[in-house]
Amino acid sequence: MSFPIKEKAGMANAAVQDFLPLEGTDYVEFYVGNAKQAAHYYKTAFGFQSAAYSGPETGNHDTASYVVQQNKLTFVLTTPLKSSHSIAQHIFKHGDGIKALSLRVPDATDAWQQTMQRGATSYMEPTILTDKDGVVVISGIHTYGDTVHFFIERKNYRGAFMPGYVEWRTHYNPTDTGLLYVDHCVGNVGWNQMNKWVAFYENIMGFRNILTFDDTDISTEYSALMSKVMSNGNGFVKFPINEPAKGKKKSQVEEYLEFYDGEGVQHVALATNNIIETVTALQNRGVEFLKVPASYYETVLERVGHIQEDLAALRELGILIDRDDEGYLLQIFTKPEEDRPTLFFEIIQRRGAKSFGKGNFKALFEAIEREQALRGNL
Ligand code: FE2
Repeated sequence: MSFPIKEKAGMANAAVQDFLPLEGTDYVEFYVGNAKQAAHYYKTAFGFQSAAYSGPETGNHDTASYVVQQNKLTFVLTTPLKSSHSIAQHIFKHGDGIKALSLRVPDATDAWQQTMQRGATSYMEPTILTDKDGVVVISGIHTYGDTVHFFIERKNYRGAFMPGYVEWRTHYNPTDTGLLYVDHCVGNVGWNQMNKWVAFYENIMGFRNILTFDDTDISTEYSALMSKVMSNGNGFVKFPINEPAKGKKKSQVEEYLEFYDGEGVQHVALATNNIIETVTALQNRGVEFLKVPASYYETVLERVGHIQEDLAALRELGILIDRDDEGYLLQIFTKPEEDRPTLFFEIIQRRGAKSFGKGNFKALFEAIEREQALRGNL
């Protein structure tokens, strides 16, 4: 009698078992024209700390990489040393941008096999890296554009970053700004490509579509976009995917696609537990943010209800507020971090809300359009 029930229970377990368990974002790797200066910028402006280095002095004669960290955030800034290196082509085409969204996994070999057997395109076969501090296993697959996902298994590693790197200590260690971890990473894909990449994350990586925005949610008088939010099983990794939609003028996603010369990472959202302190520190260090009109704050509390923060402080800094069924969130967006209008950052503090600020889309996109118009790209 009990046998069929057990069998059923076993089948149910198998059905819900995550074939690609992710422990979060391991690191974000940027390909940049000058990694030494980029590392200095992320330390000075964003409060990251020196962590590790790879370059000619460590036996790497092709590239230089600087690893900077802040709480659970790890950024890797990589540059080629010669024009013949493939990374030089990446920078020539895209400008500075994000190459890799690397995901921490318990088993990088299994992650590669699971995704490859579901149709992924390999970027790096499982590779074992060892040094005196232990073992890192790394593998990788392609995603949209020239962007890749590395799978990083580092449970048996104690070193500064990974084999091939040495610890990087300097006399210049600016204080941090309270940035904690990657909340989500947004990709911009081409016309009618969103559902292809939604299917990629569903079928090949086992993600679910948790939210959808269409052009009636995300449109202004001039431009529109559509977006679907993909999340892995435990919710640690969230990848919204944007595609442009038809509007009277050029949308921000079209502008990105033109200047990045293809699909790529639009923004990375960095979490903080105190957005007022974090954004105050970032502004004091020269980080530039988009501003909404003062009129936004005249009606915002009617929309979002009571909040703990002082509204005057939020208005002064230009921080936006939105509420969903589970709570509210505070968010603000930097201007592009490059001369090309491509990658930017979001700073986000969640007070229960698990959504992405839909109530702010209109004010935010109008702010982006004002910047586009200044650039002559609207
Ligand atoms: Fe975002």
